[in-house]
Amino acid sequence: MHSDLLIRGGTAFINGQAARRDIFVKDGRIAALKPHAKNAPGASRIIDARGLLVLPGVIDAHAHFRLRLGPGKYTADDFTSGSAAAACGGVTTFIDYTGQGPGESPLAGLRARIKEAAGKTYTDFAFHCTLTGWEKMKDPAGKMAEALKAGAPTFKMFTAYGARGLMADDNAIFSALQAARRLGALICVHAEDGAVIDLLTEAYAGLKSIKALPLSRPSFTETGAVGRIAALAARSGGPVYFVHLSAAGSAAVVAAARKAGLKVMGETCPQYLALDESRFKSKGGYLYSCCPPIRTKEDNTALWEAADKGQLQVIATDNCTFTRAQKNAWGGDIRKLPMGLPGSQTLLPTAYTFGVKAGNVSLKKMIEVLCENPARIMGLRGKGFIRPGADADFAIFDPFASAKTDWRKMQHNTDFSPWQGQKLYGSPKYTVLRGQVIAEEGELTHPKTFTGQFQRRIKPQII
Ligand code: URP
Ligand code: ZN
Ligand code: ZN
Repeated sequence: MHSDLLIRGGTAFINGQAARRDIFVKDGRIAALKPHAKNAPGASRIIDARGLLVLPGVIDAHAHFRLRLGPGKYTADDFTSGSAAAACGGVTTFIDYTGQGPGESPLAGLRARIKEAAGKTYTDFAFHCTLTGWEKMKDPAGKMAEALKAGAPTFKMFTAYGARGLMADDNAIFSALQAARRLGALICVHAEDGAVIDLLTEAYAGLKSIKALPLSRPSFTETGAVGRIAALAARSGGPVYFVHLSAAGSAAVVAAARKAGLKVMGETCPQYLALDESRFKSKGGYLYSCCPPIRTKEDNTALWEAADKGQLQVIATDNCTFTRAQKNAWGGDIRKLPMGLPGSQTLLPTAYTFGVKAGNVSLKKMIEVLCENPARIMGLRGKGFIRPGADADFAIFDPFASAKTDWRKMQHNTDFSPWQGQKLYGSPKYTVLRGQVIAEEGELTHPKTFTGQFQRRIKPQII
């Protein structure tokens, strides 16, 4: 058999084991994995991966591109710049969110977002359904079933952002969890206590300082909401996945819930693992604004420990890019400060540098949280694992190569990076999507070719 691509002699991770393999690709799929041989049969293209690590393509389970902020207003990364950044960072699939209004059909929202993204991405993509306005919806469980059938089996609910009409009450979340149990769907929750945050935001807005951010969103507003929703998961029997956890206490609640046998899972992000609130002291501290806020070094350590022990299952970006100009518009008023950070291009290098290289997690664990677990939890069939028959998606990188982060060299449509000037290891040399090299050495290989395809997902696995 003549292969389309041969990835020669790299150290691949197969069934949790590192092994030197020749990987043969045919028609976008992994055709064969063979022990490395000097005289392996030829292929249309050969990548010499000797001395390199061959990982499954990274899955970013939480990204926002072209997020609508208001009439004619969007976040800075659209699907093209965002997926370019993802591709150059070793990500081959991202999952974004639908954006229909409260009470509107998730399926209609899903179709609209697929239309927005189709033909504009370098990587594969999927969508979680945002689930807002539960009480306004006619037959909301039936609406969830429709979206699930169309390939979107995960639904995001919020316990904050009341002013934007996104906040769900416990009644709605409980009902959604019951529906998710019946349907085999998964409820993803942005857990922050919106009522307390609104009160504290008003109380501290007068400070006219970024210091108002951690003061108005203290850890207990997240950890309390996580506990409350975990209790609803217990009583309803429905599965819940907490997005972007930032606090040690929240990870401890997730761990305790899991120990008690509940269907509770959790995600954290590089900004919560490797940045801390000392950043707020710098002149550009407001650029680090995100919800929940970055916290303390103790939280960083506890989150790494939770990831290492399998208590948190996924590291994703929550990429939500703003330019300096967009952030500058806050004028010192925390209520007007855009929340969110760019992260797609730095997901793998930050996880490798601050996780593996710093001794916080093994390489095996990093692959679990960046590739295998998101594939299983999010129902991405054919992704996340290197095995025959799977999509030929890879992030191939040199673990010894390093580069100083500089936003000017990145694909994100912004003019700062939270990692600016930091030396990061593990930047991918090649990113391969379904057998095509989409990025090489941090540059797109075919900037005019949009290879990405919508991924219809199957039912989530509760792990
Ligand atoms: O600050 C953040 N995280 N912005 C993105 C929206 C969200 O809450 O996930
Ligand atoms: Zn969120
Ligand atoms: Zn988000």
